[in-house]
Amino acid sequence: PERTVILSPTEADLDKAAELLRTGQLVAFPTETVYGLGGNACDGNAVAGIYEAKGRPSFNPLIAHVADIKSAQKLVIWSDMAEQLAQAFWPGPLTLVLPLKPDHGVSGLVTAGLETLAVRVPAHPTARALLARVGHPVAAPSANPSGRISPTQASHVLAGLSGRIAAILDDGACGVGLESTILGLSNDIPTLLRPGGLAADEIETVLRYPLKNRDTADPLTAPGQLLSHYAPNASVRLNVTAPDAGELYLGFGAREGDLNLSSTGDLAEAAANLFEHLHQLDARALPIAVAPIPYHGLGQAINDRLQRAAAPRS
Ligand code: TXA
Ligand code: MG
Repeated sequence: PERTVILSPTEADLDKAAELLRTGQLVAFPTETVYGLGGNACDGNAVAGIYEAKGRPSFNPLIAHVADIKSAQKLVIWSDMAEQLAQAFWPGPLTLVLPLKPDHGVSGLVTAGLETLAVRVPAHPTARALLARVGHPVAAPSANPSGRISPTQASHVLAGLSGRIAAILDDGACGVGLESTILGLSNDIPTLLRPGGLAADEIETVLRYPLKNRDTADPLTAPGQLLSHYAPNASVRLNVTAPDAGELYLGFGAREGDLNLSSTGDLAEAAANLFEHLHQLDARALPIAVAPIPYHGLGQAINDRLQRAAAPRS
């Protein structure tokens, strides 16, 4: 497409967005975590278009977004653990990786040839309204060019992908602000593949079972989890209590002019602000110093994203 159409979450525009997806076009849409770059998961050309629009160097597996549990059960082999977690946390910022069913209909480009599929039911009302209308699974990575910061507002999406996608559904800022937590359930050991918008301890409370951490050396449990990711333009220094002159300070609002994640130290608020602040810092191109972030609750995912932002670029 030469021009990206901006749609709003009205009935008429949701119908338009669903029709674009059904006919193989790409539509960015809001979820409670970040904006997704959606394409029909059952249409190989549409999925190839997602990789092309993002400039993804390789075919990393994508998450299939569906409207409800029943739709997920048509794609993957369900289990008791999946049922428990879906009942507790769907719709919401949790992605489950489960074995594919025969005749699932999803393009091999979505799974990158794996025998498992990542599925999620997003909670954002606009995402839900869209998925219900489309009626098939929608593959959607975060709607940013490969290696850049994930978008939490429509303007972030347009800055990176304008002219590369048919449309964007603009419904303001994303409430959670961090990508979903990805949990591997393809064997009987629940494995945290990516910390995200649902804290790991909440999952452990429901399962009454400790999560295994992903084996970073295993390409099957951690496909496409590049260390340098979410990269801002400027250099990033972590765990800084005293920033240097000339550094922008990202933290909990101690000094005038600092970028404030949360003045009360609230980690959910900090998560919601993180990418927006990184986008702003990006535009200013000054070196960034980041205050220590506690590791509990959502702090695990915030630290994960910051470590990737600070990692040497490959
Ligand atoms: O919050 C989110 O999850 C957002 C919104 C749009 O839903 N989506 C998102 O997608 O973050 P993406 O493509 O940026 O990240 C998906 C990650 C990939 O890094 C990939 O490693 C992992 O999911 N993944 C997908 N399928 C997998 C599979 N079968 N096994 C293991 N990991 C998988
Ligand atoms: Mg991403």
